[in-house]
Amino acid sequence: MDLKKCVRVIENFPKEGISFKDITTLLQDGEALKYTVDKIAEDLKDQNIDIVVGPEARGFLIGTPVAYALGVGFVPVRKPGKLPGEVERFEYDLEYGSNVLEIHKDAIKPGQRVAIVDDLLATGGTTEAAIKLIEKLGGKVVSTQFLIELEDLNGREKLDNCQVNALIKY
Ligand code: PRP
Repeated sequence: MDLKKCVRVIENFPKEGISFKDITTLLQDGEALKYTVDKIAEDLKDQNIDIVVGPEARGFLIGTPVAYALGVGFVPVRKPGKLPGEVERFEYDLEYGSNVLEIHKDAIKPGQRVAIVDDLLATGGTTEAAIKLIEKLGGKVVSTQFLIELEDLNGREKLDNCQVNALIKY
């Protein structure tokens, strides 16, 4: 299936010079959504994954159905001030701007095997931050799975200790 055709590219959003990959057009296509989730789950199914972690907000959209397909739990990594329990926090740079990410301290148990699932790998800052948070809690990031990779931004280079997979590349 040609998933790239399902992604709508919008130039100069959210600011001048950014070529925004809009996945809402893929999400609204039932066949494309099922294909995406099944493909990622298929790649993870023999890796003894205990938990799927997804970064806010678009990581929730892909990560939760992948966790469901694997029959494992889902843990959100969220923007600051959203999680009600005790959190670990980490500051990181984004393709446009900077941000802080948080995870519940009791969300991952030491030794758990974790897959990070997100819609997009750009600079890799978000995933790197998620890895730092997971490792701080004693988890091991086995695999990172993306719908889209922006290859020019070299995000993959920040993630050299685990599997990095993307279904679509630009
Ligand atoms: C986007 C995307 C990834 C991240 C990738 O999220 O969903 O999480 O940026 O960029 P990076 O590899 O350069 O870190 P964004 O923070 O825009 O939030 P959203 O999902 O809430 O729109």
